[in-house]
Amino acid sequence: MRPVLITAAVAAAIGLSACGSEGISVPKDDPAYPGAVLFSQRCAGCHTLTPAGTQGSANRNVRVQGPNLDQRKESRSDVLFAIRNGGFSGGIMPANVVTGGQASQVADFVSKYAGQEAK
Ligand code: HEC
Repeated sequence: MRPVLITAAVAAAIGLSACGSEGISVPKDDPAYPGAVLFSQRCAGCHTLTPAGTQGSANRNVRVQGPNLDQRKESRSDVLFAIRNGGFSGGIMPANVVTGGQASQVADFVSKYAGQEAK
């Protein structure tokens, strides 16, 4: 398990330093930017959220795919709840994809940028 984790961490570091964050429309000087990068790395497979350049909800007939976060407003505490508990209903979204300070950064980003297409 350990070599896999190290490889993932190295890959993430390379991705960050080598401008692996194309598609992110959050300005780099926005305090929410680090959260957008994390979101694009960790949450992209299952959630669409345009400011992070992700399209993960495009194919909702795939069961694991999560809600399109362009279409839902989320409070910071709801995002933290979803991260810690694995969504609201449980069972599909993995819990603790990000933790600690990274979880707060993602929550800052999602609560600021989600729901831009909400009616
Ligand atoms: C393996 C797929 C998967 C990954 C990875 C994933 N999610 Fe989810 N997420 C889901 C599914 C499915 C739901 C809906 C079911 C539920 O709420 O339990 C969901 C629900 C949510 C919700 C609640 C949305 C609402 O209004 O109902 C939020 C917020 C959320 N996810 C944020 C995140 C964040 C932030 C990350 C990355 C740290 C992430 N998700 C990673 C699949 C995923």
